Amino acid sequence: KVIHQKDYLINGEIKVWDGPVSDVYSTISSTETYAPTLLGSIPTMGEEEALNALDAGVKAYDQGKGAWPTMKVKDRIECMLKFVKMMETKRDEVVKLLMWEIGKSLPDSQKEFDRTVEYIYDTIEEYKQLDRDSAKFHKHSGVHAHIRRGPLGVVLCLGPYNYPLNETFALLIPAIIMGNTAIFKPAKHGVLLITPLIEAFQKCFPKGVVNILFGRGRAIAGPIMKTGKVDVLALIGHSSSANALQNQHPKSNRLRLVLGLEAKNPAIVLPDADLDLAISECLNGTLSYNGQRCTALKVVYVHKDILQEFNKRFSDRVDALKFGNPWEEGVDLTPLPEPGKPDYIQELIDDAIEKGAKILNKKGGQRSENYIWPAVMYPVTKDMRVYEEEQFGPIIPVVAFEDIDEPLDDMAESNYGQQVSLFGKDVYALSPLIDTLANLVCRVNLNSSCQRGPDVYPFTGRKDSAVATLSVHDALRSFSIRTFVASKDT
Ligand code: G3H
Repeated sequence: KVIHQKDYLINGEIKVWDGPVSDVYSTISSTETYAPTLLGSIPTMGEEEALNALDAGVKAYDQGKGAWPTMKVKDRIECMLKFVKMMETKRDEVVKLLMWEIGKSLPDSQKEFDRTVEYIYDTIEEYKQLDRDSAKFHKHSGVHAHIRRGPLGVVLCLGPYNYPLNETFALLIPAIIMGNTAIFKPAKHGVLLITPLIEAFQKCFPKGVVNILFGRGRAIAGPIMKTGKVDVLALIGHSSSANALQNQHPKSNRLRLVLGLEAKNPAIVLPDADLDLAISECLNGTLSYNGQRCTALKVVYVHKDILQEFNKRFSDRVDALKFGNPWEEGVDLTPLPEPGKPDYIQELIDDAIEKGAKILNKKGGQRSENYIWPAVMYPVTKDMRVYEEEQFGPIIPVVAFEDIDEPLDDMAESNYGQQVSLFGKDVYALSPLIDTLANLVCRVNLNSSCQRGPDVYPFTGRKDSAVATLSVHDALRSFSIRTFVASKDT
């Protein structure tokens, strides 16, 4: 069924759009072609609606005097509980749209929904704990302090297409529960799935607290940033978008940033690694959701002593994966949601081949309309685009090393610093190496692939990979500021 989405939410009112629209395509299909088919359309809003939504958010915040930022904690929690309960009734609809819009497998789509619901409940519990902490009084040098956490203002919230529900809500939910107000524009792909939730936002939060717009990022976010009225830019996506938006803010030094950006997470396979385990984890780490995860392993360093065996066994495992539609049982690989993505992947493969790499697996690089079979490439060198670019897709670059300093030096030179996976028999005995790795990235995974969860753990990155930390615990802090009321001994 084609869905023509027309609803949007500004200042507590669900309005029906009658202006220009943009088509939304799906690249999954019940046919064998996987050619993009029309799934529906969304409003193409512009500056006028963007500024109306901003005004609503600014008014609801009212420089910290609004009903929402001054509301009692227990009442804000009640709004959030009501919201999450309404959201839970929409599971089937949202899961179906996740599969159709972004080609995520059924189990992963269900996981994305359930994880988001759990994230909201956990955030509520963490918020209660913050509130209990703020009831404590402190005394130092004759000064009594009542320290608490307050909101920052108006948040512009922009999430990614690969987790259009979960990662977007990992920004939006902590932002609003802390008393901020928000303007939220869904990602380019994974946009129709927000429709079933608009009513819940409208029913559960006071007017102007959450404003939802549809359209192109630049046409909406640009004019909003230019006003200088945004206090927090919360974005998970590409640094080029974050930089462009940040630069449009006339007082960007006042702008708080909460950003999850690119990564280039390496796996390092040591000569004594359990190869079965390393291969399984690297397979999952590189190709889960076709490699379209910022936490995906994007380069695999393998010690020379085990290189041949690793390459052979890994390539065979890649070719044994199952490709199909997201709802098919046991499917590992699905069509790519971005039209044009296979062409980009092909360019990277061609570039690497031209510079001396080979595709090791038999099926590597085989094309269907909107899919390209994962390519295991070796030897990958630094001059190749696939080494440098994030790619966000199904290429597995393999680099051989002899001395551990080789991958360490590459990591130190890299612009990114999110996570690493280290595979070895007794990695716990390698504590100096682990300490070094922890100084280069923010999470060291021992004998396991990289991942964001569990969501109670800090999720961030060094260098160009992130600004601020997300997690159930940290996001509430990222979207707030510590303030206190002081009194002196009399
Ligand atoms: O795309 C980036 C996500 O944060 C990845 O999350 O490791 O749970 O798949 P994940």
